[in-house]
Amino acid sequence: MEQTFLMVKPDGVERGLIGEIIGRIERKGFVVREMKMMQASEELAKAHYAEHAEKPFFGELVTFLTSGPVVALRVEGTDAVSVSRLMIGKTKPTEALPGTIRGDFANTMSENVIHGSDSVESAERELGLWFQGQPVNA
Ligand code: TYD
Ligand code: MG
Repeated sequence: MEQTFLMVKPDGVERGLIGEIIGRIERKGFVVREMKMMQASEELAKAHYAEHAEKPFFGELVTFLTSGPVVALRVEGTDAVSVSRLMIGKTKPTEALPGTIRGDFANTMSENVIHGSDSVESAERELGLWFQGQPVNA
């Protein structure tokens, strides 16, 4: 059984989309193994998006991710990483298809309501980062 790291971003929380997003994940057949609402520190946000540290949008990305609480999720299921990415939809609003979470709820590149790990390796790294020191119920 594969696990992935999903996160409702500050805009998703602020817009009241927590239930909608988790509902879609659960209805697909995935199981939430661990979950917490929290305020990410700048340090955690920078570590999470370390791969983008040299990108021009990095500063705004970190500011956005720390602008309010997020909901961090450990989600388990068959092909959880790739299937949840399909459900999330593409990063570019012009490519995020209707029916996907971003396609249905986001129309900007920067504020796009949800994060999902892009590989099994990323999932392991991100789960370790966000749930470090927490009891693991899986
Ligand atoms: P990325 O990992 O490329 O996208 P995804 O979230 O689909 O894995 O980028 C991380 C986040 O950075 C993305 O969700 C939104 C933001 N971002 C921008 O603000 N501008 C950009 O040009 C890109 C590529 C991403
Ligand atoms: Mg990414």
